[in-house]
Amino acid sequence: MSVTSIVPEFLFDYPRGWFIVGASKEFNNETPTPLYYFGRKMVGYRDSKDQVVIMDAVCPHMGAHLGFGGKIKGDAIQCPFHHWEFGASGKCTHIPYSKIIPPAAKVQSYPVHEVNGLIFLWNDPEGLEPNYEIPQIPEWHDTENWLHWDVRLRQMKTQQHEVIDNIADATHFGPVHQMHVTDFSVKFDRHMAIQHQHGPSAMSYGDDGLLSTDAVYHGPGYLLTYLYTEIDTIMLVGHTPIDKQNLQIFFGLMIDKRAGLDADKIEAMVQHGQDSFFQDADIWENKSWVTNPLLVNGDGPILQARRWYSQFYRPRTDLPMYAGYSKAA
Ligand code: FES
Ligand SMILES: [Fe+2]
Repeated sequence: MSVTSIVPEFLFDYPRGWFIVGASKEFNNETPTPLYYFGRKMVGYRDSKDQVVIMDAVCPHMGAHLGFGGKIKGDAIQCPFHHWEFGASGKCTHIPYSKIIPPAAKVQSYPVHEVNGLIFLWNDPEGLEPNYEIPQIPEWHDTENWLHWDVRLRQMKTQQHEVIDNIADATHFGPVHQMHVTDFSVKFDRHMAIQHQHGPSAMSYGDDGLLSTDAVYHGPGYLLTYLYTEIDTIMLVGHTPIDKQNLQIFFGLMIDKRAGLDADKIEAMVQHGQDSFFQDADIWENKSWVTNPLLVNGDGPILQARRWYSQFYRPRTDLPMYAGYSKAA
């Protein structure tokens, strides 16, 4: 089999999956939250049961943006221009001056999941229901021992697949992150990519200078990493396409409170974690996408990773052809 024939194709502009669109606290039942992801204007709010609703924001009447000046009315949102109202399903429920509501008076509404202090939107180019879940972090509920993250944002001029390559890139840790990796493994299991690494690292807080990490991608845009050193932490990295050239990065760090850190030390640790993740940013923002990279022994399972994440860029009917790769190491 030639190398070219095993390079996967990405058939969708944006991958299928759960993507963070904000922190829980950014959504309420008083003021709508305008959003822009996947090249679409959207709006989010909380309904009367406190559930987050996200729908396309362009009013089908005359195009006003529901997120700017719109009002939340129970379960519905009211357009600021002529006061048409749209329910959580996206269907128009009320036109103040017409008893007839045209069938086309609707916008697309998206599956939403709230977990770990985050709001996830299900993006699916085929318009199907979610086929995996974002799990609760057990430590999130252990507030006695764990500090919640305060999500920080940064936009990056790059594409989703450049960032995902990183999960399998064994040889960039030394040059970019000043980490000498002595153990490195990646497994691919359905919608998850699971990485373990160990070695001396600038991110270690122990006298021995060692760091072990266990990182799991749950789908193509949500990476959760447990970092084990003198002070244990859990790192969030979410990346959601804004459009085809730009990503929104969501960064967060949960810290084990039992380390007894004061506010300054906590801030320094969060900043350090954030800086470490963004050490790749200059490279991503300036590099070119190489479909068929010139790989040598030791590079890490980059092609297996691409096969794994190509599942999110293809119709579901295509997925059985990748089954043989689901357990690749
Ligand atoms: S543009 Fe929304 S009600 Fe007219
Ligand atoms: Fe990296």
